[in-house]
Amino acid sequence: MAKDYSRMEDSNRSSNPSIHDVSAHRRTVLRGGLGLAVGGLLAPLAGCAGPGNAATGPLLGFRSVPVGTADTVVVPEGYSVQAIAPWGDPVGLSGEDHAFRFDASNTAAHQETQMGMHHDGIHYFRQPDMPAGSGLLVMNHEYADDGLLHPDGMATWNAQKVRKAQAAHGVSVIEVEEKNGRWSVVKPSPWARRITAYTPIAVSGPAAGHALLRTAADPGGRRVLGTLNNCASGITPWGTYLTCEENFIFYFKGPDQPDAHQARWGLRKGDPVGYRWHEHDERFDATKHPNEINRFGWVVEIDPYDASSTPVKRTALGRAAHEGATIAVTRDQRAVVYMGEDARFEYIYKFVSRDRIRPGGAKANAELLDHGTLYVARFDADGKGRWLPLIHGEGLLTTARGFADQGEVLVKTRQASDLLGGTKMDRPEWIAIDKQGWVYCTLTNNSNRGGTNQPGTDAANPRSNNTMGHIIRWKEAGDHDGLAFEWNHFVLAGDASLARPDARGNVRGDAFGCPDGLWTDARGVLWIQTDMSTSAMGKDDLRNLGNNAMLAADPRTGDIRRFLVGPVGCEITGATSTPDGRTMFINIQHPGESPSERSDPAQPRRISNWPDFRPDGRPRSATVAIRKNDGGVVGT
Ligand code: FEO
Ligand code: CA
Ligand code: CA
Ligand code: CA
Repeated sequence: MAKDYSRMEDSNRSSNPSIHDVSAHRRTVLRGGLGLAVGGLLAPLAGCAGPGNAATGPLLGFRSVPVGTADTVVVPEGYSVQAIAPWGDPVGLSGEDHAFRFDASNTAAHQETQMGMHHDGIHYFRQPDMPAGSGLLVMNHEYADDGLLHPDGMATWNAQKVRKAQAAHGVSVIEVEEKNGRWSVVKPSPWARRITAYTPIAVSGPAAGHALLRTAADPGGRRVLGTLNNCASGITPWGTYLTCEENFIFYFKGPDQPDAHQARWGLRKGDPVGYRWHEHDERFDATKHPNEINRFGWVVEIDPYDASSTPVKRTALGRAAHEGATIAVTRDQRAVVYMGEDARFEYIYKFVSRDRIRPGGAKANAELLDHGTLYVARFDADGKGRWLPLIHGEGLLTTARGFADQGEVLVKTRQASDLLGGTKMDRPEWIAIDKQGWVYCTLTNNSNRGGTNQPGTDAANPRSNNTMGHIIRWKEAGDHDGLAFEWNHFVLAGDASLARPDARGNVRGDAFGCPDGLWTDARGVLWIQTDMSTSAMGKDDLRNLGNNAMLAADPRTGDIRRFLVGPVGCEITGATSTPDGRTMFINIQHPGESPSERSDPAQPRRISNWPDFRPDGRPRSATVAIRKNDGGVVGT
């Protein structure tokens, strides 16, 4: 089956239908991804002693690496990288150890015990009672590439293949340890865990049990099987992990005439492009189970320290094609969760908790994200902005307007935001907060901006045909729960050598395009990770930029330097580090993604064999541990 997944990637984030055509070329599947975790803000959680807090010199202490096209990870002189925990390696469940088979002949049952595919958001967790030198890596597996996942790709199709693909989704928890500068996965480990697309997950918050969440298999609407398309991530101050469901809609078969709600969420007529789960798992057929789509698109909270705990979908945070969830804490100890929705012309959100964070970890804060207020951002032309509350019964969010209660407002977060007049953004991805309190959001690109029947430019999204993307930032009035803010552009990405003025951007330093991952480290460095789609990389504005990269920015000066270049066909996503800052972990996602075909085994034009480089192998997403050869803090 001929598929152009990369074009899907480029085109799947569609949606704001008020303006969106639903042309065939835009039907797509999904993927995307990136993750980023909290960072400096929450560093004390991890017991951060503050390697960078003592830094007095320049924030960026390395020499830039050039643009590159090699099938390897390139880092600055004086640094080394090690790939760990690739797709298919055992996670270390007790009594189970199914080695990865390079011909992809592992079964679905094996895959349940192995690293999932296409690593994305990631965070390093550590508790004081863990063995010295060890910690947990918790990470998302955004999607599965069926061409790589099975020996014959999708040439044949059956229920076991669907099951294996579902097992390759979700989240992994692994224990890792460092000895003499080398990292390895601890096997077995009491913390090791796989969460998949069929792991039972609880639903909490105002939409739990709502009529729109009830299905034949779950008449109570409070227990969903699985989490899907887990893209970026976040962490909480109470030690849990937040995984965010992004392009869930593309897994579902739609009716001949999607209703207004389905259409607003991008459900297309007929079979999904690429995914064929509905052929063997009926709940992905929205013509039979129309409410199943409402059970995805949430932020899911996981306690990484308790492998028997049930993950929870937190509906109070709203439903979206969620990218990440980045938490700030107000002066009076309430949690503020910043979230982007990565789809063209969708929105930026924040949730402010009603209650204060309590000492006592996950158990003491088990309901903290269930009560509070969700807001959508409006960026005004005068450099100011407002947070507009999504509260049932206030303003336009009434029963007369189609919202029966707060649960319906949350299930229909997009429709509610349309009514309130939130600003339609250029695909909001990761969010990070610097040491001065600026909140940054990557807007990865939006080539539809200014197109026919599409929204034109606005102050916050100033470029039509925005192929390069930009990073916006804002500072709240008062505290993070403020209802007003001031904003500006941190950078318009681009390449100064281009002829098209609008694509040159204003980067002060090394050129880049399509910012996606974003993370602030303990010293305050803003790490920027790129996700130029492989279908777009070889042409036009992105031609000169080579493989996807990670750059480091100084938020105070705006200086940006290229720190790392990934292997061919990958995107760079997810960033975290050990509390001492001496190892940084990032994810290399979908190495070898080809511009013309993702991975059809019948046409093995594989452009990457990273990280194994075996002739009988296949490219594998993996985590990369980055260290400075002299043992210093990464980035110094
Ligand atoms: Fe999954 Fe928006 O990247
Ligand atoms: Ca991705
Ligand atoms: Ca992306
Ligand atoms: Ca992403």
